[in-house]
Amino acid sequence: MGLQKQLLQLFMLLVSSFSCYSSLNQDPLSNYLDKTSAYDNSAYPTYFGTINDEDQDGDFEPNFNYEPDESSNFESFSEVGSPSSSIKVVNVNDFGAKGDGTDATEAFEKAWEEACSSTDGAVLLVPQSKKYLLRKITFSGPCKSELTMKVYGIIEASANRADYKKDTRHWILFQNIQNFKIEGGGTFDGKGDIWWKNSCKIDKSRALTFYNCKNLSVKNLRIRDAQQIHISIEQCFNVQALNLLITAPERSPNTDGIHVAGTRKIQIISCVIKTGDDCISIVSGSQNVQAMDITCGPGHGISIGSLGAGKSEAHVSDIFVDTAKLSGTTNGVRIKSWQGGSGNANKITFQNVYMHNVTNPIIIDQNYCDQTDPCNEQESAVQVKDVVYKNIRGTSASDVAVKFDCSKGYPCRGVVLQNINLVREGGNQAKALCKSVKLTKIGGVTPNCP
Ligand SMILES: *[C@@H]1O[C@H](CO)[C@@H](O)[C@H](O)[C@H]1NC(C)=O
Ligand SMILES: *[C@@H]1O[C@H](CO)[C@@H](O)[C@H](O)[C@H]1NC(C)=O
Repeated sequence: MGLQKQLLQLFMLLVSSFSCYSSLNQDPLSNYLDKTSAYDNSAYPTYFGTINDEDQDGDFEPNFNYEPDESSNFESFSEVGSPSSSIKVVNVNDFGAKGDGTDATEAFEKAWEEACSSTDGAVLLVPQSKKYLLRKITFSGPCKSELTMKVYGIIEASANRADYKKDTRHWILFQNIQNFKIEGGGTFDGKGDIWWKNSCKIDKSRALTFYNCKNLSVKNLRIRDAQQIHISIEQCFNVQALNLLITAPERSPNTDGIHVAGTRKIQIISCVIKTGDDCISIVSGSQNVQAMDITCGPGHGISIGSLGAGKSEAHVSDIFVDTAKLSGTTNGVRIKSWQGGSGNANKITFQNVYMHNVTNPIIIDQNYCDQTDPCNEQESAVQVKDVVYKNIRGTSASDVAVKFDCSKGYPCRGVVLQNINLVREGGNQAKALCKSVKLTKIGGVTPNCP
């Protein structure tokens, strides 16, 4: 009986590790989405409870597994459940990468080819305690099987601008890949200094771009000092971004943390983002975006938009931001659109958000104008509809903690404020400005629209 029980336990263990392996295939996101409707706040690690205690900042650090020991590279991969026996391991060092900070672009290209053409799955290994310099590089799929890139070491951008002459928008581009994971606790360093000095807003350059990927997982990585945007996820489907630490100086221009464009079904979970621009920006074509357990600041906060620039049509919907802490950011949770655009931004929830000294904690700005010429008043606008703000508290760095500056022609509709408590940093009352907005209030709402 005892032996049988042990065997059973062993069997269960194997089953569970294999089911973990196939979890991407089993579409964890849809599981997850099912759960969120019956979302139990107490079951989720939330900042609330401890949130007033500023000394507990350490609690907001995400759960990194930074220091994998080299000996366990393979184990840790099989720990995530892969049948390691059949998986091919492709080490960039075997393709001529030295790991001493010298150019490894060609070695990475060759290693990618090899890994991507494996028919039994592959691990592309970037060893730890090594530093690799990459010029602009593109990793293209489709690959023959599932691929994991394990980055333990440091990958550094070439600081020579001539290396980006042909395409200033991308440093590392992953495109057309299915069932791809990138993880390992390593670092991407965009060496952004030279870019920031020559910064230009048009067509921001990106450190990591994922374009047209399906079933993508990006986790346990540090990304720092990007040229401009740190991670850009474009035209992808079914994405998890988990445990990312993204940092750049507050003064670095246009250094968004995570940019989501044209992507459906994405979860961004347990990320810490301290940069000079938006913490997370979500733009047109994005649908079903969840951001949970997010720590931001400095930076420009969590932003939907800008939408409708240049009279364009924009659509975003089903955005769910839950459990976030923003400190010292210029915005908290923002929706911004240009006049003259069209389309809609709807079904958006911001909940359980703690603000500390945020200049515009809650803001919808339908008169966004980020250009040197003044923006003339125009009739059309992106329709903002069904936006819920729930359990939002903390302090505002400005007098106006709640600002709805909606368009006359297309007022904001279905906006709900529930349990809001925002005061001026230092304790004085803050104000709400509410223009062209149809509001519902539930519970205590401070400040209140006049
Ligand atoms: C992504 O995962 C889903 C769910 O398991 C699977 O059905 C689908 O084939 C995968 N997509 C691609 C492009 O491999
Ligand atoms: C709040 O932010 C403002 C700038 O936005 C800054 O001047 C001030 O020192 C900050 N206060 C605290 C208490 O952090």
